[in-house]
Amino acid sequence: MAVERGQFSSRLGFILAAAGSAVGLGNLVAFPVMASKNGGAVFLIVYVLFVALICFPVLVAEIAMGRNTRRNPVGAFVALAGERSRWRWAGRLAILTPFMIAVFYTVVTVWIVIFMFRAFTGELETLATTNAFGEMIASPGIFPWFIVLQFIVFGILLGGVKGGIERLARVAMPVLAVMLVLLILFVLTLDDAMLGVRYYLIPDFSRFNGGVLNAALNQAFFSLSLGMGIMITYGSYFSRQDRIVSSSRLVATADTAVAFLAGLLILPAIFAFNPSTNPDDLSSSSIGLIFTYLPQIFLSMQDAVGYVGASMVAGSFFVLVFFAALTSLVSILEIPIAYMIDEHNFSRRKAVLIQAVLVTTFAALAALSFGMSPFLTDFIPYGGGTRSFFDLIADTFSEVILPLVGFMVCLYCAYRWRDGFVEELSQGDESLKGSFLQRYLSFSLRTFVPVVLMFVFINSVAQKYFAVDLLMVFAG
Ligand code: PFF
Repeated sequence: MAVERGQFSSRLGFILAAAGSAVGLGNLVAFPVMASKNGGAVFLIVYVLFVALICFPVLVAEIAMGRNTRRNPVGAFVALAGERSRWRWAGRLAILTPFMIAVFYTVVTVWIVIFMFRAFTGELETLATTNAFGEMIASPGIFPWFIVLQFIVFGILLGGVKGGIERLARVAMPVLAVMLVLLILFVLTLDDAMLGVRYYLIPDFSRFNGGVLNAALNQAFFSLSLGMGIMITYGSYFSRQDRIVSSSRLVATADTAVAFLAGLLILPAIFAFNPSTNPDDLSSSSIGLIFTYLPQIFLSMQDAVGYVGASMVAGSFFVLVFFAALTSLVSILEIPIAYMIDEHNFSRRKAVLIQAVLVTTFAALAALSFGMSPFLTDFIPYGGGTRSFFDLIADTFSEVILPLVGFMVCLYCAYRWRDGFVEELSQGDESLKGSFLQRYLSFSLRTFVPVVLMFVFINSVAQKYFAVDLLMVFAG
């Protein structure tokens, strides 16, 4: 059936690619903002607990489904549950979701590319003005960059699993790690940076509330690329001789480490810029923080390192974010491509070209919804305001649907697949069977993980579309 199914060259190749997918804008942008808004160290503790207790079992389950079936999400559910099974709808949702996420993520990545270029070419001062971001997103000037990005992304995908995705991750991930550490070391030398470190690392438990729980779980789920079909698809390229559980642990650890380090970069930078920062006043939107506030922070460094130095620091930061976004973008686009190759016998080339046309069309529409098209800008009313086409896609597919897909994966592995699931985990890892870890994974997927995910799904629907937070209502 399959025409050109790829495989990662080694366990390390898989880990780098999966970590490349997981490490994205979620880690470098959303995590530091969430941490700053939700009590710093308190958020960090809750986040790590959720990664270990809730997200890790789901990560293992997704990878196991993919590796066992060697299929994309639709193919995986069909191969395990049968051609006529209703479970294939879960698979379809896990194809539609990544496509839609890719649409809005492409738009944000184009903005990153533009800021990166403009920072390096001496425009940091302009970028730091309050209108710069708003003007950029509403201007047709973004479209040439859009085309450049699409050539890069689809060029990599044309290279296949080993020659494209894995090759990119092998270069981008080490570069990203080194740049992140260097930027942190630089920021920590600035006056007052330690105020940010203190806020980030010393917990103030009075800041704990229901909202922290909700934010941390949503963030952890998104950050590990769960519920998007990515890990099912990447699992399908993973060798049966290798260990799923320990590899998943490394992926989750790498992702959490990068999120932690991003906090250690951005929070001290904020406090160094303004030592009397009140965390309650920090930007309410992640996008605003990175595109408006951060350029101001970088510009303020010119007293210490000169304008060129500050521009280089800003440019390097955007290179870092660009690499993270690129490895995530290729991972998410691989799902619909794998679907077409597996289920419709398309060649990789044909599948990549069709995806390129589809994603570019939808992403262009999403890009027009920041003022260029009034119809797409004021697209639909919900949640107490008028939302754009971009908002609708981002709200629905980056938050609401993910826990629902995760919920179905849990139910499937724990109740339908059961022993087959344990067998798959033990492939290449004989000592796992019957161990405490294996029993914990099976137990958690059968009990509290789906319960929590269903609650998060219902709460996300209430929050996004009806502006009601059930956790706040119940927990105060
Ligand atoms: N884990 C990714 C992140 O934190 O940004 C989630 C993701 C989003 C992956 C969008 C891929 C993607 F296209």
